[in-house]
Amino acid sequence: MRQDESLILDMMLDGKPSRFVLGPLACLDLGRFVAHPPPVYVMDAKVAEKHPQWLEQVQEGCGDFRRAALKITGGEGAKTMARLEEVYGWLGEQDLSRDGTIVAVGGGSVLDMAGMAAATWRRGVNFVAIPTTLLAMVDAAIGGKTALNAAGIKNPVGVFHPASGILADCGFLASLPCLEWRNGLAEMIKTAIIGDPRLFAHLYHSRDRLTALVRDNDAAAPIPGVIGALPWRRWIGQAARVKARIVNQDFREQGPRRALNLGHTLGHVLEAWSQDTDRPLSHGEAVSIGMAVVFRIAAERGTCPVESAVQVIELLEACALPVSYRCPPPDVLDRLLAGDKKQSAREGLRWVLPERIGKMDISGRLAAPEIVKWLD
Ligand code: GLY
Repeated sequence: MRQDESLILDMMLDGKPSRFVLGPLACLDLGRFVAHPPPVYVMDAKVAEKHPQWLEQVQEGCGDFRRAALKITGGEGAKTMARLEEVYGWLGEQDLSRDGTIVAVGGGSVLDMAGMAAATWRRGVNFVAIPTTLLAMVDAAIGGKTALNAAGIKNPVGVFHPASGILADCGFLASLPCLEWRNGLAEMIKTAIIGDPRLFAHLYHSRDRLTALVRDNDAAAPIPGVIGALPWRRWIGQAARVKARIVNQDFREQGPRRALNLGHTLGHVLEAWSQDTDRPLSHGEAVSIGMAVVFRIAAERGTCPVESAVQVIELLEACALPVSYRCPPPDVLDRLLAGDKKQSAREGLRWVLPERIGKMDISGRLAAPEIVKWLD
């Protein structure tokens, strides 16, 4: 893909079209996804602060004189009933009708929560996602999952409500803090492992350059020169293509889509448990640990080549992502695993276990002692 070209991926989710556009001017396409009346925007306040002119330009671009925008604080704190209620209150003030559109601008948590608002406001309004983080571009924005956290569990509340348009512009990434790059890399590596061995090989062979970018950088600071340093647009496009292919095939996660939960079953448990500690894990960090553990287990069982496990762990470490963690007490582990959203009373908890790069077993079984053994 040339720098000035857009990548377009078309999906049909629940019988409705959902288009992913990746390109420098992707957001100027917004008008195509919005019918009358003009949309309302739910935007990450930090993104608004870092890109002061952006919203105005986009609003002008689609002839929007209503200019209704709610700025919210991003992060996991956005994914609560209380925040959703605030959004409902604001949508009421805006008098958003059934044929209206909510445009969400931000990272995964803002998109998850605003997507939930779009799915439920007046029983569902049109939704457009403008992902501004690497993680949201390669994963959260694609495939129509919306979510809130509740009951001390990550994402147990949510509905499927695909965005009609997902408009990804790498320009946002220039100001992304280093920790967010690591989070996004974890999901990009996951997607490559599941569905694109060539992307995995590219990432693996670029690991020294990845390390140079993310290892010593202050987690809260942007990475100088990051955009030109590596072929991000190509990689984002490759990862998005895998995700789009999978969700198009299995929107409601009855089969192949489960593979996208690689590293997430344990990851969600650790992420939820660590929130009460002095160093909460970010989503990408938790998923990284979850992936490392299932690769170790599969390699020990002999169901996955040891070399694949070694490469995955080397790549995660090269991206300054953790690959081990102190084990929660057994009762906590059991309780949190029992609360995992993918738990089925009939089937019990199924794990995604790697067989090799590019092939996953989506119905794996794990015993708690194996997790304990390979977690720390
Ligand atoms: N993030 C996993 C999925 O969309 O299924």
